[in-house]
Amino acid sequence: MDSLTFVLFGATGDLAKRKIFPSLFNLFLDKKMPDSLTIIGLGRREWSDEVFQKHVEKSLQSFSERSKNVDAYKIKEFLRFFHYRPLDVTDQENYKQLLNVIQKYEQELSIPENRLFYLSVAPEFFDVIALNIKKSGLGSSKGWKRLVIEKPFGHDLKSAQELNAKLREAFEEDEIYLIDHYLGKPMVQNLEALAFANPMLQALWSNKHISNIQITASETVGVEERADYYDQAGAIRDMVQNHLLQLVMLTAMQQPEKLSADEIRRQKIRVLEHLRPLQLDDVGKNLVRGQYSLGEINGESVPSYTAEPGIKPSSMNDTFIAARLWIDDAFWGGVPFYIRTGKRMKEKSTRIVIEFKNTISDLYKEKNEKTPPNLLIIEISPNESVLLQFNSKNPLNNSKIEPIKVTFSANKKDVPEAYELLLFDALNGDSTFFVQWKEVELSWKWVQPILEAFEQNALLLHGYSAGTMGPRAAEQLLEEDGFNWW
Ligand code: BG6
Repeated sequence: MDSLTFVLFGATGDLAKRKIFPSLFNLFLDKKMPDSLTIIGLGRREWSDEVFQKHVEKSLQSFSERSKNVDAYKIKEFLRFFHYRPLDVTDQENYKQLLNVIQKYEQELSIPENRLFYLSVAPEFFDVIALNIKKSGLGSSKGWKRLVIEKPFGHDLKSAQELNAKLREAFEEDEIYLIDHYLGKPMVQNLEALAFANPMLQALWSNKHISNIQITASETVGVEERADYYDQAGAIRDMVQNHLLQLVMLTAMQQPEKLSADEIRRQKIRVLEHLRPLQLDDVGKNLVRGQYSLGEINGESVPSYTAEPGIKPSSMNDTFIAARLWIDDAFWGGVPFYIRTGKRMKEKSTRIVIEFKNTISDLYKEKNEKTPPNLLIIEISPNESVLLQFNSKNPLNNSKIEPIKVTFSANKKDVPEAYELLLFDALNGDSTFFVQWKEVELSWKWVQPILEAFEQNALLLHGYSAGTMGPRAAEQLLEEDGFNWW
């Protein structure tokens, strides 16, 4: 791996503390970091290197399991990578001083001018920072440069296009690494292997044998401390435009010619290009929006969305979305893809269920036996597992046919975190599991009529009690087609 300088904007923030430092620490322990590396944390606070290193150490104590089982000298060794600079992201002078500091470290360690800029900051600063990196000369190095940014990427199609145009003034497309943390989840990365490394599944992976696909990302948490952001975003922007459409793309993509970042992205984009656009007047037929009312989760009563701190009592924001999508191509024509996501639901679960066509049921009907469809269930979180449901005679129950589940599951404690995998790829320059601009743009294009329908209030806002799996209308969406959520 190339030696580099890792420049972290927003180093005193929450994401850095919870995810970035612990993930870097795991990479360090696994010897997956370059030998020569400087990490420069930037933030508004006037901290010294020592204060920053203490902060990193504390974050490991709170959020890194592995730090509890290592010798203190290992942690010390890790902390030596970290330096700190106060920086006002809007002040160009600050960037020039930063350039001097970076050059000094590069010379001291005699490392090439490879610079990775990670923006863990509020989205309104993405373009400001990128343009200042360019203007200050920070971005004109003799080595490579990369810009890593988090969602949200825009608020709608237009704002996303504007943001992209600004970023592109400072960085080439292949230098921009857009993070969707769902793409870092090991089971999401495994989708490609399930579909393409198993001839048995590959033979079944199309409308010939699959009746429908269901993708669920349910959460038990509410808006938490993000009322300002969430009340503007809703489930449609927060989860559907990015995470859920990414899962649709990865499930539906066709076999790439080779497993390169470009080829995989080409296949993902192909899916979005064939995704049937929603027209403003048919949004309501294919989409259910909901908002939670008061209820109970794990025995504790929780307030309704509009009673949450920071949320307007009149808010019409969506905390739940279910939708039916069609991919109009030769492989998936006629197979509905159902997605659903929501806050304050009954359980935390992200999973993909592939339901196979059930063509043999008549044979067993005569014997009064039920033969539920075969299912392939991919559990993404909180547990990672792959589960196949077959029908089999149960000798303990009068040899009646019953569904059995064959499961493979990973040992949770050995599974790397999404951020760990993504950071490793970003350090290495592998962009396979980062989102390309075209994917963002086509996703917003698909979502745009939904946003407009919501703005015009053209769609009923269904209530659902906290602690349930969403409004009844979400069940009806599948019942109309003769299916049910698994
Ligand atoms: C984030 C959303 O992108 O994903 C959050 O902004 C949501 O609202 C989170 O809670 C869910 O991620 P995970 O990994 O817990 O499924």
